[in-house]
Amino acid sequence: MKYYLTTPIYYVNAAPHIGHTYTTIAADLIARYQAMQGREVVLTTGTDEHGQKIERAALAAGRTPQEFTEVISAEFRSQWKKLNLRVDRFMRTTDPRHHKTVQELFTRCLNNGYIYKGSYTGEYCVSCELYVSDAAAGAPCPDCGRPTETVTEENYFFKLSAFQDRLLELYESQPDFIQPETRRNEVLAFVKQGLGDLSISRTTIQWGIPVPGGGKHVFYVWFDALTTYMSAVEGEDRWPADLHLIGKEIVRFHAIFWPAFLMAAGLPLPRRIFAHGWLLFENDKMSKSRGNIVRATPIHEVMGTDALRYFLLREVVFGQDGTFSYDALVGRYNSDLANGLGNLASRTLSMIHQYRGGVVPAGTAPDSVIEAATKAIAAVRTAFDRFEFSRGLEALWNLLSVADKFIVEQSPWRLVKSAEPGAGERLEATLYSAAEVVRIAAVLLAPVMPGSAAKIWEQLGFTSAVESERIDQLVWGGLPAGQEIGISVAVFPRIEAKPAIEKMRELEEAETRRQKALFGKQEPAGPAPAPLADPITIDDFAKVDLRVGQVVSAEPVKGTDKLLHLKIDIGEAAPRTIVAGIATAYTPEQMVGRKVVIVANLAPRKLRGIESQGMIVAASLEGGQPILAGFLEEAPIGARLK
Ligand code: MSP
Repeated sequence: MKYYLTTPIYYVNAAPHIGHTYTTIAADLIARYQAMQGREVVLTTGTDEHGQKIERAALAAGRTPQEFTEVISAEFRSQWKKLNLRVDRFMRTTDPRHHKTVQELFTRCLNNGYIYKGSYTGEYCVSCELYVSDAAAGAPCPDCGRPTETVTEENYFFKLSAFQDRLLELYESQPDFIQPETRRNEVLAFVKQGLGDLSISRTTIQWGIPVPGGGKHVFYVWFDALTTYMSAVEGEDRWPADLHLIGKEIVRFHAIFWPAFLMAAGLPLPRRIFAHGWLLFENDKMSKSRGNIVRATPIHEVMGTDALRYFLLREVVFGQDGTFSYDALVGRYNSDLANGLGNLASRTLSMIHQYRGGVVPAGTAPDSVIEAATKAIAAVRTAFDRFEFSRGLEALWNLLSVADKFIVEQSPWRLVKSAEPGAGERLEATLYSAAEVVRIAAVLLAPVMPGSAAKIWEQLGFTSAVESERIDQLVWGGLPAGQEIGISVAVFPRIEAKPAIEKMRELEEAETRRQKALFGKQEPAGPAPAPLADPITIDDFAKVDLRVGQVVSAEPVKGTDKLLHLKIDIGEAAPRTIVAGIATAYTPEQMVGRKVVIVANLAPRKLRGIESQGMIVAASLEGGQPILAGFLEEAPIGARLK
């Protein structure tokens, strides 16, 4: 049987942090868990490389989008490799094979009558790449709080409105289509309110996949991005996916848009969407600008990937928000792994070495232990099937403490010296029971901590790979009596918190520096900045009237490839005409709607027969391209710069 699952494809506007790793680790766990039930698994991940946000991030780093996305996409791949995360297919939205699939999906929707051309004016959040409905000009985006921009453009629209009933039917007939329940309810409420049509193309961006027969139109990111789930396995007979694993902030796109696109194209729908929560860092949302980013690779270097995997899956209830902190990570490692599992494994194995010459004895375990183990196996499987990883791990740790208690009760160190009748049998039963619990733990933990489970497996004397065990066939008694066990080495040596945390923080800083050098702002090569002009007084400066304006229209000036003819609104009765030498750096389409700074009291001057009533402020190095001055926050039209 096949099993196909996906992670979201990651934006390449910044390098991966622990939040991205969290999704990928969970997907890796599910993939391994499914494979250990005999399924033939494919796990797809990748990078989402188009759109304005990426174009801007590239610009800010002084790179072309191609160069920028190349470096960051490679960074994702190299991190997943370092962390030994399973990646069966890695799809980039810039891959020509993907372009073809997107264009085919569009054509199917078009031919079935679900696409039309229309004009759209709205408040757009560049950061979230979403229009914000019913928002006033410049209103803050409800998701990220950044100011929106007013954008008017001709778009291709997808008739999402036609799918309301079919979507509701889908959620009704497949109640586990969206999980967990809270997310399902959110989606239901949203769809019940009624769905508007969806703009799926842009003419204001160049960095995208061309719409077939659509001239300047390129696909808007979500139509493009979601389709990677199909393009990644094109020609493999894998579609539909069994599971899309995503973060909670992108549920709407996956649970509403995506099935609607597929219904419109007449293609099969994914079977399930599971949305996990957000990972906070020391109770704060991670943000690059605030400098509170944590990455997985420094943690992996100090504590190993398995410790991080275990921590994330045990500490955070999958589906809810959770917190990462170094203290909690080391704390849990020492209590659950070093003292818990590690201690049980090493004491059991050393007792077998000491008391039975390193050979597994043929002991008959008491019913109570067998029953506890059988129940734990069932509990872990049920929990993992429902993506309740922390609950599953808790059930397994309960079994470990049953084994611990049993050892203490029986005290093999006394039994070995005892002359009482039956002491030898009790000793063997205890050793066998403890070792069998360790074996069961190794199998159940193989998807969660593959490296450590393999080590324990080997120490138990197995020569096969633990991943080739079948979790769905796991029952008490699989440890063969007479098996010679391996050398017992601590799989989870205790870690001293303070130096470990200091080391992780240090590596984190080094990583920040490395990333800055790798894809931070590149200083422009070429001419040095011009020498400073002569000093002026504040009164001199006050003579220059600088204003915020918004470009209303833009067109090239005939007979030149340098000039643009712009109409700019600075809050006067009519927009001003300004001729600007920026055509080599900006297209007219890029200018419309854009806020600029203009010198408003410059004496008018004729350029190519057009009277220019002011000048746009731009930065440039000698001979370099002009870069328009702008604002990070929303600046009102007509405001003066002082
Ligand atoms: N490119 C889109 C997804 C397109 S899927 C067709 C996107 N990319 S993203 O890079 O911003 O986020 C991808 C995923 O990373 C999120 O869905 C989420 O799973 C994960 N996370 C990013 N930051 C996170 C946390 N701080 N915590 C947990 N996961 C978060 O959205």
